[in-house]
Amino acid sequence: MKTLKIKLNENSYRILIGKNVLSNLIEHVNSIPVTKCLFIIDQNVEKYHLETIRNVFASINCKTYKYIFNATEFNKSLNQTKLIYKFLSDTYFDRNSVIISFGGGITGDVSAFAASTFMRGIKFIQIPTTLLSMVDSSVGGKTGVNFDNRKNLIGTFYQPDSVFIYPAFLESLPDKEILSGAGEVFKYAFLSDGKNYNLLKNNLKKFFNKNMSGIEATVEICLKIKSNIVSQDEKEITGLRKILNLGHTFAHAFEVQSKYKLTHGEAVIGGVYCALFLSENLEYLSKQKLNLFLKDFNFIKMNKILGSLDENKIYESMTGDKKNVSGKIKLVLLEDIGKIIIDVSVGKSVIINSIRKMKSLMLNDGLL
Ligand SMILES: NC(=O)c1ccc[n+]([C@@H]2O[C@H](COP(=O)([O-])OP(=O)(O)OC[C@H]3O[C@@H](n4cnc5c(N)ncnc54)[C@H](O)[C@@H]3O)[C@@H](O)[C@H]2O)c1
Repeated sequence: MKTLKIKLNENSYRILIGKNVLSNLIEHVNSIPVTKCLFIIDQNVEKYHLETIRNVFASINCKTYKYIFNATEFNKSLNQTKLIYKFLSDTYFDRNSVIISFGGGITGDVSAFAASTFMRGIKFIQIPTTLLSMVDSSVGGKTGVNFDNRKNLIGTFYQPDSVFIYPAFLESLPDKEILSGAGEVFKYAFLSDGKNYNLLKNNLKKFFNKNMSGIEATVEICLKIKSNIVSQDEKEITGLRKILNLGHTFAHAFEVQSKYKLTHGEAVIGGVYCALFLSENLEYLSKQKLNLFLKDFNFIKMNKILGSLDENKIYESMTGDKKNVSGKIKLVLLEDIGKIIIDVSVGKSVIINSIRKMKSLMLNDGLL
């Protein structure tokens, strides 16, 4: 079993990764004084892992309840959160109770948002069940729901009590969702150093060839990178944490404009490519480096939907992104691996240009 630590001024917490972590989860919950426990479970996770969850459920000593959640971006909403509040209220949850989320990033984000706001915050534990949530969303404390056709517009910073990563959950995850997780791994490849770039690139190549042998190592590398960043800038105050948004202003617009037919990770792949093209266009990144990156990742297949999106509408969506300041689009760009530049203001024409380059890369099947 591997243990990582998120070190914060208050409420530092542990991430446990391995095949026995569900026993650690039971032991942990039984060791804290909680009165009630709500399992919010993704409906597909309930379907494929009923026995596993039933065993955990039966081993928790306090009064335990189950809430099945249908994880779609449309259900990542205030309305669905209200239903969770109603359940908590009807069953008299109090401030000594705990919510445990079993699911991907959508279930995790909504459950964490509900936990952070119900009675001004009750204990919350993350059990991520998708690759994307294992490498990224279960850690770091960003919670939220979509609102007004904008991604994650309403939310809080609220750290979980702990995170337990049980890789066997991935055995039932559809290929499309593995490749969605690969989108965030692609982003992490650029965020630290040459060694991690190569390790993540090699593992990503395996995932695109349906070989999952590098999963645990990938989860560990990405979470080490994220823990290090979040420990230094928990609430995006110094700016360091913004580097985790590489490609995300584009990605959120792609998701919204595709009416969520693109998964988050598929949109992030398109977004990271746009950020690379834009970085070269503005001369932060050399043409030589750009070409090297494109060659290194030429095994990545993008979702064709990216090619059909209207560039002007994407731009319009990007102007509504919550990371903008005074109506100006602020992007995360890069000079090199681990040399990330934040808050770059960019105009419409360069944005549209980078989207066109990403599309032409896609249409040429990975080749420019
Ligand atoms: N909070 C953060 O820091 C953060 C970071 C990155 C992404 N996100 C958010 O995460 C969301 C995407 O998360 P996701 O990719 O995990 O998607 P998701 O939660 O929608 O899960 C994807 C699909 O996989 C199914 N599923 C989940 N676990 C399964 C399993 N073990 N076996 C079979 N099917 C399973 C779900 O039912 C769903 O259909 C987006 O809303 C994104 O904005 C949040």
